[in-house]
Order: sequence, then structure tokens, then C-alpha cells
Amino acid sequence: EKGTYPYYMLKEIDEQPAVMRKLLLKYQDENNNLTVDQAIVDAMLESDRVYIIAAGTSYNGGLVGKELIEKMTHIPTEVHVSSEFGYNTPILSEKPFFIFLSQSGETADSRQVLVKTNALGHPSLTVTNVAGSTLSRESNFTLLLNAGPEIAVASTKAYTAQIAVLAILSEVIGIEKGLINKGTMLHDIGIAANAIQAIIDDKEKIESLASDYLSTSRNAFYIGRGMDYHVALEAALKLKEISYIQTEGFAAGELKHGTIALIEEDTPVIALVTEKRVAGHTRGNLQETKARGAHAMVISMEGLDRPEDQIVIPHVNPLLSALVSVIPTQLLAYYCSLHRGNDVDKPRNLAKSVTVE
Ligand code: M6R
Repeated sequence: EKGTYPYYMLKEIDEQPAVMRKLLLKYQDENNNLTVDQAIVDAMLESDRVYIIAAGTSYNGGLVGKELIEKMTHIPTEVHVSSEFGYNTPILSEKPFFIFLSQSGETADSRQVLVKTNALGHPSLTVTNVAGSTLSRESNFTLLLNAGPEIAVASTKAYTAQIAVLAILSEVIGIEKGLINKGTMLHDIGIAANAIQAIIDDKEKIESLASDYLSTSRNAFYIGRGMDYHVALEAALKLKEISYIQTEGFAAGELKHGTIALIEEDTPVIALVTEKRVAGHTRGNLQETKARGAHAMVISMEGLDRPEDQIVIPHVNPLLSALVSVIPTQLLAYYCSLHRGNDVDKPRNLAKSVTVE
């Protein structure tokens, strides 16, 4: 039940710190070490390449997951939109391992890939919020998101839970492979949960930024590089799906190759700046849009922030920055949709789970 909340989406945004803490408990052994089913670890250790298959927000979560898997386990990882996998089928490695990311576990586009990979005999893991869902039943292994039911069509807590689960899985494998000496994810995800809470506690500020920046605009952009680019894609999907503002998530460096032509007086451009090695470049790209009239906003991370930045998120392990930087973008989308009088939980033309191909 949504209780005193006007919409499930706000409730589900608010639940994210608790979801993080619950996950840490669920994936902990009696010695307080993070753990996952050894059979999953063994299957992944045997593989030479991971293929993440997903749609929508889960695809965007997969992009972050790829970074986590590659950095912590050194297993090459590809992410594929499930509805495209059948046409743009990659040449598979000798020992592929498939990870299906799906909040509902019922997405038909993803299931049709699983049917194929099962026919080929490749091992698969489903990371889902729903125990007993179709994808969970039909794949070899399951890891649960433990996020509690997600009712709002716009996915929020499933995205952050997916990232946390993939971070835990990656660390466990990294330790097993001897690439990581001592795990920090238990601590770092806890710190991220506190950071998420701090942003949620300050949500009035984000509500007023939503009014200032997004109340009348017909289009908007999120930009970023590296991890921030992945979050820009998710931020854009969230904003467009519930506010109906045409929003694009863009690689900050790619704007100048065409899309900058769309920037007009007062077009909102929101830059994500949470990674040191790219911060200067992204700010430079934002400046280029400002020079063409953009209404620029910055979401930065403590340590990389400047006094003029509109939103500064607390410092967290850079591998987990997406967990935290996505929160203000969820809240911007929520308030923008609310102020426009839309049905936040049930945007037009959309269903919670897409069971047709
Ligand atoms: O249940 P799934 O995670 O497989 O769903 C995938 C997408 O349909 C879903 O993430 C969709 O994009 C959301 N409405 C985004 O908020």
C-alpha cells in the first residue's frame, strides 16, 4: 500500500536506502562477508565473456553492471538490448555466460533471448525482483533484488538494487579470483545508502529545481561521460516516460557532432559530473551549450563540486556513483510529472511489464 504517499513512485524512491541495507543483509554470511551462491560464482569463473540482456531501465542498469563486472572481475562483458539481440547477434565467445536483468522477470523481449540461449545450452543467471517469475524459472540461476514490489511503471528501486546486486556479485568473484584483497562493498554500499537518504531528505530543493528548469520546456538533455553517461541515459528515460518532455541522454563529447544544433534559448541541459578524469571535459561541453542559450544544471559529487552547482551528492566509491547520482534525476522526473498534472504512476501508453515482443 502507498499509505500517505500520493504516488507509489515517491514511496519507491524513498525506500531505496532501506532496500540497499536489506540487500546487504541478504547477501551476507555468518562472518559478515558478502556472499552469493557458489554455483553462480563457479559458472561465471568458467566463462570467458558475460552477456547482459535487458530492456529499458534494466538495460541502463546493465551498462553500469558491465563496468562493475569488468573492473572487479576482469571478465569481458557486453550489454545488449534484448529486442535487438536476435538481429544484431554478436559472435559469441567459446564460453558465454548470460545475465538477464529484469525487474519483473516477465519481459517477453528478454525471454525470447533466453529461449535461444537455453536451446544453445549456455548457462544463464536471472537477476530479478520476482521470485518464481518466468525468467527466473527458465534460467539456471537466480539472484533476487529483494526490493519489495515495484508498482509505479517508472522503475526506480529496481535500478539501484540491480546495481547493488551486480556490485556484490562482482566483488565476490573478484575476491575468488584473487583480484581483490579485501572487499569494501559492504561498507561502500552502506555509505551509498546514507548518501541516497541525504538526497531524499533534501527533496524540496529538487522539487523547486524541477519547477525552475522543467516546468514549460518541451525538450531536455542529460549529458555525461563514462559512468555519468550511463546515468544520463537512465535519467532521460525516466524524465521522458512520466513527464512527456522529449529528453535525450547524451555522451557529453558527442553533442558537438550534431545534437548541439537542437540547443535553443532556455533548453534545459543537465550535466552529471561525478568522475574526476572526465569532470573538466563534461563541464566544458556544458559550457558550449550555455553559450548557445541552454539553461544549464550540474549534478556533481562532493570533491568535484563548484559553488555554482545546483545539486551536489555526497562522496561515494566512484564505482557506485550511479547508485547515488540517479536519485536527484528520479526526483526531478517525479516532481516534473506531478507539476504537469500527469498520472505519475501510470504514464500514458505504458504497462508495468511488457509481455509482448
Ligand atoms: O521488468 P523489466 O526490468 O524487464 O522491464 C524492462 C522495462 O520494460 C522497464 O525497465 C521500463 O523501461 C520501465 N518503465 C522504465 O522505467
